Amino acid sequence: MATTKSTSSETKIKSKSNAAKDLKDLFEDSLKDIYWAEKELVKSLPKMEKNATSKKLKTAISLHLEETKQHVNRLEDVFRSIGVKAKTEKCDAMAGLLEEGKSIMEETEAGAVRDAGIIAASQKVEHYEIATYGTLAAFAKVLGHKDALKLLLETLKEEKSCDEKLTSIADTNLNSKAE
Ligand SMILES: [Fe+2]
Ligand SMILES: [Fe+2]
Repeated sequence: MATTKSTSSETKIKSKSNAAKDLKDLFEDSLKDIYWAEKELVKSLPKMEKNATSKKLKTAISLHLEETKQHVNRLEDVFRSIGVKAKTEKCDAMAGLLEEGKSIMEETEAGAVRDAGIIAASQKVEHYEIATYGTLAAFAKVLGHKDALKLLLETLKEEKSCDEKLTSIADTNLNSKAE
């Protein structure tokens, strides 16, 4: 019997000098990340809409673009409600997801297949946002930021409904055509 060697590294990560020391710091850092992400989405969604073929998909993206602009404003309200200046910090995860979305469009012919790719990429973005706003809402609750919590839950609801809409568009329109 082979003995299993432990290869997992048990090295502790050394924190940076400006590392978050408490939940309040982590909450604020995460807000800055998603603020950057939402602003990037305002720039990226029009490209996705332009590259989509299905009318339903185009409409869904353009409606979510308007919601996304609201998400940016709402985050500014969140910052205001906790007395912190609204600031962006590059979100590497969203940057990666948007990069992937761009390559999916480059690697597909326009039409049903590219639409399927756009939906896939968009849903990854929405899932990321859902996870982020869910976490932020939980943090806001623990920190007792009632106004921020309300605002974050409003956006969370819109991200979830966008995701559901994308699922239904994929089911009814695209999956059969893309085969
Ligand atoms: Fe959003
Ligand atoms: Fe979204």
